[in-house]
Amino acid sequence: MKRVKLWDKEFEVSLPYADIQLAIKQMAEKMKKDLEGKETLFICILNGAFMFASELMKELELTDAEISFLKLASYAGISSTGEVKELIGLNEVITGRTVVILEDIVDSGHTIKGVIEQLVGKGAKEVKVATMLFKPEALKVDIKLDYIGMEIPNDFIVGFGLDYDRRGRNLKDIYTLI
Ligand code: IMP
Ligand code: MG
Repeated sequence: MKRVKLWDKEFEVSLPYADIQLAIKQMAEKMKKDLEGKETLFICILNGAFMFASELMKELELTDAEISFLKLASYAGISSTGEVKELIGLNEVITGRTVVILEDIVDSGHTIKGVIEQLVGKGAKEVKVATMLFKPEALKVDIKLDYIGMEIPNDFIVGFGLDYDRRGRNLKDIYTLI
């Protein structure tokens, strides 16, 4: 299996791009049926979800959708700090809208729970979550995930948007820490 070294750590391919692409295509089929005609506002959680959002939006091909970006940070090194900082906020009117949060990965679930609460607080009619990856064993909060690309074990991963101290986001495949 292909390996990469990022800073002091070695990683090995665990999800090749073809598998990621297929999972996103399957999610998109389901989402398209649910969201057609709803004038959905997609919110991509930066930085991690940028590749997933781009791939998913291209598959969805909705003509009444909009996309915006919320920049958050909670990870330091290979573990979550538990504190979620907002680095760039939203300017869009949320009241009365169907909003779909696009996240790279749901780990403890704290980040996504915070975003859901923020959007509900701003008066969204409906808030859904689409996550490319989900680590069920790491989940610590009670949340509903509407669309999940793939469930993965509780290991630290990088690639396809996910980083280890800022490196690895650009990689096309997903790698697991050895
Ligand atoms: P949560 O708040 O614990 O669910 O963490 C979610 C955020 O932590 C995600 O948006 C990711 O940016 C980051 N994260 C969680 N797991 C990993 C991982 O295995 N590798 C890199 N980043 C991760
Ligand atoms: Mg993220």
